[in-house]
Amino acid sequence: MLQHFFGLFYLLAVSQLLSFTGSHADDECPVQLNPQSVVVKYGGSVSVDCSTSVPHKGMGWVSSEGGVPLTRDSLITWRVPELREWDIEPACFINYNKTQCTVYLPVTIYKTPDSVSISTVNHNGPMMEGNQYELQCDVLNVAPVQNLTVNWYKGQTLVDQTIFTDTIKTPVSKTSKLLIRPDRADDGAQYWCEAKLELGEEGPRPPPTNTSDPLSITVYFKPIINETKLPSIVSVFRGYPVVIVCEAEGNPKPTISWNVNSNNIVYSKTLTITDSTPEDLHCIANSSAGNTTRSVKVSIQDISISTGNHTGPMRVGEEYELQCDWTLHTVAKSVVVRLYRGEHVVNTTIITDSSNSSDRKSYQFKIHPKKTDDGAQYWCEAQLELGEGPQPPPKVTSESLSIIVHFKPIINETKLPSIVSVFRGYPLVIVCEAEGNPEPTISWSVNSTDIVYSETLNITESTPEDLLCIASNSVGITTRHVKVVLKEDYLPLIAGLVAITVAFISVIFIFIFIYSIYYKTAKMGRYNLKDAKLSPQNGDIAQNGKDNSIPMKKLTFASRNKLFS
Ligand SMILES: *[C@@H]1O[C@H](CO)[C@@H](O)[C@H](O)[C@H]1NC(C)=O
Ligand SMILES: *[C@@H]1O[C@H](CO)[C@@H](O)[C@H](O)[C@H]1NC(C)=O
Ligand SMILES: *[C@@H]1O[C@H](CO)[C@@H](O)[C@H](O)[C@H]1NC(C)=O
Ligand SMILES: *[C@@H]1O[C@H](CO)[C@@H](O)[C@H](O)[C@H]1NC(C)=O
Ligand SMILES: *[C@@H]1O[C@H](CO)[C@@H](O)[C@H](O)[C@H]1NC(C)=O
Ligand SMILES: *[C@@H]1O[C@H](CO)[C@@H](O)[C@H](O)[C@H]1NC(C)=O
Ligand SMILES: *[C@@H]1O[C@H](CO)[C@@H](O)[C@H](O)[C@H]1NC(C)=O
Ligand SMILES: *[C@@H]1O[C@H](CO)[C@@H](O)[C@H](O)[C@H]1NC(C)=O
Ligand SMILES: *[C@@H]1O[C@H](CO)[C@@H](O)[C@H](O)[C@H]1NC(C)=O
Ligand SMILES: *[C@@H]1O[C@H](CO)[C@@H](O)[C@H](O)[C@H]1NC(C)=O
Ligand SMILES: *[C@@H]1O[C@H](CO)[C@@H](O)[C@H](O)[C@H]1NC(C)=O
Ligand SMILES: *[C@@H]1O[C@H](CO)[C@@H](O)[C@H](O)[C@H]1NC(C)=O
Repeated sequence: MLQHFFGLFYLLAVSQLLSFTGSHADDECPVQLNPQSVVVKYGGSVSVDCSTSVPHKGMGWVSSEGGVPLTRDSLITWRVPELREWDIEPACFINYNKTQCTVYLPVTIYKTPDSVSISTVNHNGPMMEGNQYELQCDVLNVAPVQNLTVNWYKGQTLVDQTIFTDTIKTPVSKTSKLLIRPDRADDGAQYWCEAKLELGEEGPRPPPTNTSDPLSITVYFKPIINETKLPSIVSVFRGYPVVIVCEAEGNPKPTISWNVNSNNIVYSKTLTITDSTPEDLHCIANSSAGNTTRSVKVSIQDISISTGNHTGPMRVGEEYELQCDWTLHTVAKSVVVRLYRGEHVVNTTIITDSSNSSDRKSYQFKIHPKKTDDGAQYWCEAQLELGEGPQPPPKVTSESLSIIVHFKPIINETKLPSIVSVFRGYPLVIVCEAEGNPEPTISWSVNSTDIVYSETLNITESTPEDLLCIASNSVGITTRHVKVVLKEDYLPLIAGLVAITVAFISVIFIFIFIYSIYYKTAKMGRYNLKDAKLSPQNGDIAQNGKDNSIPMKKLTFASRNKLFS
């Protein structure tokens, strides 16, 4: 207590003196402090030596605590076992060269904070991506605040730093704020703050540091539909269902649904599209962070066949075009277009330029219809060569197009010879048959004024000799000239002549026969009567059936009687 009193007395004296002598006193004051300044933890112990190498008339420490009264020693120590005075200002003085000088000891008393805590300002729960939020770090009762640094960390990265300029020595509470604008990548990030007392060379190593608990942030964001996976136009081939996938990322995890039509909502990531699916679909990715919709247009891949600019029936011998039109929205390496007639491929072409795949494409096939093509069914098929992709390669076929082929009448010349012979009195029917499309009209021009509309014509001897069969349809007219040759009928005459001749010849023959028989009979009878006497004499010499004259005579008479009866 006494020491205190003296110390204070001298200090006052010195202060007065200083005000007269100016600040040079310190520079010239021949005392050394060791250490020259101190950093002491509040409540910690401290000791500082003050020494001089010059002869003096006394020196001492003046301080509200731990003062050393005037002494002739050359080394005196200021010592406080528990320093609890925030504004302590110890000084060492010396009486020397008829004056007194003083050296102050800078004392920094520090106190680590009671607590360091982190919180969000005016917000609870998840953060939305893109919004700004404020984080707050509360540092309670720290001193000296001018040596306090509040460091902000995100994970292990220092993101911000706050320093304070207040010169107050006693403990104060400080708040540091940090503005953040989190994005989805920050979801789950840990923010924390640290209060560090940067106390320089004399301060403790490492600098006293107190950290807050980490603050994990949750960042929500609106669903984002993967547009690569879900194109806005989906091509579907008839008969080839396509599965489309709506994938969305988002926090929280979105619910995926398909709005197929107003009263048909499908809760699924995938949707199978067939040709009966409505044209406009919407994928909705829904979460508490918002909803995102993507529209999908279903494009049914179709192909059609037409006769191009031509309408109506086709004619044999001319060239026509059959046109296949198709839409393909997918990028294909090439498209094989085939023209079918019934079951058979009649022409194929490969189209490799499908750079702009959303175009409507067409290809013309040339055909030369024959009369047998009437009613033939033509259709087109387009097949995509995708390289990889669905197997077998998707293809699309058109409806059938039935073509009508018209042709000029053709008269059957086998049935209608060019020369017809007719016998007088014997009428004849001739037929003019013709095929053609449309069905031809057949008429006979009998003479320049007489036209008979019939396939058949009765020919008599009065029919003019030049006839013309006319077969006509909308395509053309075909005629066939028929010459009628009239022939007289000699058959009855010939028959009569033959009959007369036959009768005449018969009569002559009969006459000759009868005559010959009569002549022979008469001659033989005479001969036999003469021979009757000779017969026994000649015996065997009489030969040739004439040996037995009497039986023969009998026979001859019998024959003659028969003939004339
Ligand atoms: C003492 O002080 C006087 C004037 O104040 C000065 O001239 C003199 O040199 C000093 N002596 C020493 C030893 O410093
Ligand atoms: C404390 O902070 C002040 C102001 O930033 C600085 O001048 C001083 O040197 C610091 N003290 C120590 C012991 O580093
Ligand atoms: C602050 O940190 C110091 C060491 O740096 C430690 O001794 C003290 O207990 C910490 N204070 C709190 C409140 O954790
Ligand atoms: C979208 O889907 C594609 C194809 O599957 C994939 O490569 C891509 O990484 C996805 N994008 C995102 C953001 O998930
Ligand atoms: C989308 O979410 C909202 C609110 O979160 C809800 O009212 C709505 O029914 C959801 N819709 C679908 C299709 O899930
Ligand atoms: C989607 O969100 C908007 C507002 O963001 C809301 O108007 C709409 O009703 C929501 N739709 C569904 C299906 O939840
Ligand atoms: C069809 O007619 C149009 C206009 O008359 C013409 O430009 C086009 O070349 C024709 N196409 C064919 C295949 O003849
Ligand atoms: C494809 O065609 C569309 C419309 O016909 C056109 O707008 C687009 O520029 C074309 N793209 C290319 C790559 O040619
Ligand atoms: C296929 O069609 C093209 C174009 O019309 C034609 O030039 C070609 O002769 C046709 N080939 C056959 C075998 O008909
Ligand atoms: C023509 O008529 C003959 C005899 O009736 C028949 O055999 C032939 O098939 C016919 N020709 C045609 C092309 O109709
Ligand atoms: C054509 O024939 C008809 C009867 O078949 C006859 O009346 C008419 O006189 C004939 N005309 C000519 C020019 O021969
Ligand atoms: C042709 O003759 C047949 C009988 O031979 C007869 O029925 C038909 O009426 C005749 N036709 C004409 C046009 O005289």
